[in-house]
Amino acid sequence: MAKETLTITDNRSGKTYEIPIEHGAIRATDLRQIRVSEDDFGLLSYDPAFMNTASCKSTITFIDGDKGILRYRGYPIEQLAERSTFLETAYLILHGELPTRPQLEEWVYHITHHTMIHEHIKKFMDGFHYDAHPMGILVGTVGALSTFYPDAKNILDPANRQYQIYRLIAKMPTLAAFAYRHSLGMPYAYPDNDLSYGGNFLNMLFKATELKYKPDPVLEKALDVLFILHVDHEQNCSANAMRSVGSSHVDPYSAVAAAATALYGPLHGGANAAVLRMLGEIGSKEKVPEFLKKVKAREALLMGFGHRVYKSYDPRAKIIRQTAEQVFSVTGRNPLLDIALELERIALEDDFFVKRRLYPNVDFYSGIIYQAMGFPVDIYPVLFAIGRTPGWLAQWQEMLLDPDQKIARPRQLYIGSGHRDYVPLEKRR
Ligand code: ACO
Repeated sequence: MAKETLTITDNRSGKTYEIPIEHGAIRATDLRQIRVSEDDFGLLSYDPAFMNTASCKSTITFIDGDKGILRYRGYPIEQLAERSTFLETAYLILHGELPTRPQLEEWVYHITHHTMIHEHIKKFMDGFHYDAHPMGILVGTVGALSTFYPDAKNILDPANRQYQIYRLIAKMPTLAAFAYRHSLGMPYAYPDNDLSYGGNFLNMLFKATELKYKPDPVLEKALDVLFILHVDHEQNCSANAMRSVGSSHVDPYSAVAAAATALYGPLHGGANAAVLRMLGEIGSKEKVPEFLKKVKAREALLMGFGHRVYKSYDPRAKIIRQTAEQVFSVTGRNPLLDIALELERIALEDDFFVKRRLYPNVDFYSGIIYQAMGFPVDIYPVLFAIGRTPGWLAQWQEMLLDPDQKIARPRQLYIGSGHRDYVPLEKRR
């Protein structure tokens, strides 16, 4: 049987080393023994942006980008989107197994009963400028929650962690909805515990003068599906931020604030808004070929297409496309959908896109649905953050319990000046 090892010959010294391979990887620290002298620090691997470095072992999410597969804890995303709920999927992602009925009931009960936020947090939100971006408000207030729950510092106590997990999943929609209403100058709508997770979120966003808000069941379900699709995506930029910041053993509110900050960036959580702008600029189906010419001439990017990991159809995009039809049966068809479908049809037949394996990603259709549901563009990353919170918490907890993990601290290749003596100001030229 072939040996699960790698043999390396260092041509600088002529020495040969045999390094174990586990799960298709070598340990980067095994390279440290490769030295040319006693005072040599040892060989490092250079990998900006972690293009080929596994930062952890994980049992949470599996992606096969070539085959377009996404699974949470082994369950295909298609089955979860069709048959599960967001809260059940959140339980699965955090606990590793689907809940039994009593486990699910207890889980939903706790999350439903932690949706309220302290009135002082509400006052804190009032301090934001009237046109503050809802994602900026969310990032600030979720971080501020750590001052309201100082016990959350006890991150190594499993019962305490569980409490903060309930609170974070429960309060994210409340913070998000309050941030949105603050930006409109509308009074905050308090949580309604009679409603589902998504239904209550719609209530806190859109309730006006009616005594009881009744969410449309189709939109409530669509929102739940969209949240499921965003729960986790293995070691993406914000999950990596959550793990890295959490590795300092800070409380989870501060770590989630860091993860949400990473998500705020346009290269991560902001692409669906860019898709909407692009579709608006194209304006009509007839102008699609003209726009694609510009893309091929490198004058524009086809937003919502392409992915670092998926080199075939993003499975989430397929589900969103189906969900869009259900949403439009209630809201009326978003005219941008026809432009998107035409873009997809032509692009998928075009050599430029086929050769580069560019397919629609999750963001290609999500913005169109959100727009039809009445969500303003600024709130799209906030919706993403709500869906992703259980994933961040699962990544954080897995990191804390992994004996291989320590405080995250990458190495660098120093290429700056060597030793030089301080020059007094009057002697500098
Ligand atoms: N439109 C036109 N050309 C594209 C696109 C696109 N959307 N995406 C990639 N390409 C081209 C590149 O120009 C490159 O061509 P070349 O080899 O001739 O130079 C080739 O396809 C490979 O692209 P890379 O940029 O190397 O792919 P990478 O994996 O680095 O980038 C990314 C992935 C950032 C998602 C890219 O496809 C892109 O910018 N897409 C548009 C933005 C977008 O939709 N982002 C959302 C991603 S999903 C998410 O984060 C939730």
